[in-house]
Formats: sequence, C-alpha cells, structure tokens
Amino acid sequence: MQPAEQSKQAEHVCRLAPVIPVLVVDDADHAVSLAQALVAGGLPALEVTLRTPAALEVIEQMATVAGGMVGAGTLLTPADVEAAKKAGATFGVSPGATDRIIDACAANELPLLPGAATATEAMILLEKGYTVQKFFPAEANGGAKALGALASPLPQIRFCPTGGVSLANAPDYLGLANTLCVGGSWVAPKDKVLSGDWDGITALAREAAALPR
Ligand code: 3PG
Repeated sequence: MQPAEQSKQAEHVCRLAPVIPVLVVDDADHAVSLAQALVAGGLPALEVTLRTPAALEVIEQMATVAGGMVGAGTLLTPADVEAAKKAGATFGVSPGATDRIIDACAANELPLLPGAATATEAMILLEKGYTVQKFFPAEANGGAKALGALASPLPQIRFCPTGGVSLANAPDYLGLANTLCVGGSWVAPKDKVLSGDWDGITALAREAAALPR
C-alpha cells in the first residue's frame, strides 16, 4: 500500500473522533472491557502501544469489539509491523519514521501514521507521500504554537499531535487548521484500568469525544 493511500486511511481513522486513546495495557484480560468502555464513550479509534508483553494479545482481543478500530502504536521494527498486522491492527503509529518501517507498512498493507518532530522530518515524509502525520512529542516540542507554525508553510500536511496532550490543552491543538485529532493516554489512566473502573473510563472518553474541533 502506497504512502498516499496509507495517509488516506489514516485520515479516516483520525476523523472518527477528536481523541485517539494511547493505551499501554499490561493485562490482556482488561482488553475487551477497556475497548468497550472507550467505544461506548465515543472514542472508536484505539492505539495499543507495543510496550508491554501483552500488547499483541490486547490488539487481538480489542479487534473483536464491535464499533472499535484498533491500531498498533510504538512500531519500531519491521517485525513489529508484521506482528501488529497479524494480530489484527488496522493502522499503525510510530514515534518517528524510518525507511524500514515505511517499507514494512507498504509490504504488509498497514496504513501508517508516521511521527515527525521538525519541518524537515515532516517534509521528508511528505516527499514520500505521507500527508497525515503524528506530531511527536507534541508538548515537549513547542506544543500547539509550534504545530500551528507549520500550517502556513506546510498546508498539505495534517497532524495528530501526541505526547503531553491532556483534556486541558487538547482544545489548543484541535483549533489548529492542520490538526485532525489528538492522541493521549489520559482517557485510560492506569488506576482506573487496574481497578476495572470502566464507567469512569467511559466518562473520560465521553468528555474527550465532546471536545470541539
Ligand atoms: C506516547 O507515546 O506515550 C503518547 O504520545 C502518549 O503520550 P501521553 O502519555 O503524554 O498522552
């Protein structure tokens, strides 16, 4: 799948809701309830980071939840891409982008939301055909002010900023012309996941889903 087509599909994912939950899940037994809670709150696109041994099983389980669209985050190697696709991920996210990851996504038909932190990185991805990118790490990189400053010279690129995004600062990003949605972990706090407070997570999701953009 060519980068332009990948970005078309990534844009579809980014337009589903204002927030893509970024999930770090330790126990696959939590997967279905967590996905159901987030989808019920209005957040259908879910990014499961490959940062725990359970992550691939979590993707498999979440992929069975009706109304959800499950992607794999923290893709670092071609093996990650293959494993994510096999587990049922329908999109991929990487903190940066390498030719090996890009080639693996093309070969495995996995739409990639590749990370960029600077104008040069964003331009290199644009040259390859990626018009939808992740701005990472958003807050540490200058936040909404920095991302907004890319809109005028690079209007062809739309972003999903992640890293340090919260309910409080999400509106600053969502108001930008070049932002489709934001990504963040705040909608699935560890304590709520561990205690099985699914209603609490649905409430957080609902609040996030209601953010204007
Ligand atoms: C990440 O890679 O962990 C994401 O960017 C989420 O960051 P956050 O935990 O600051 O929301």
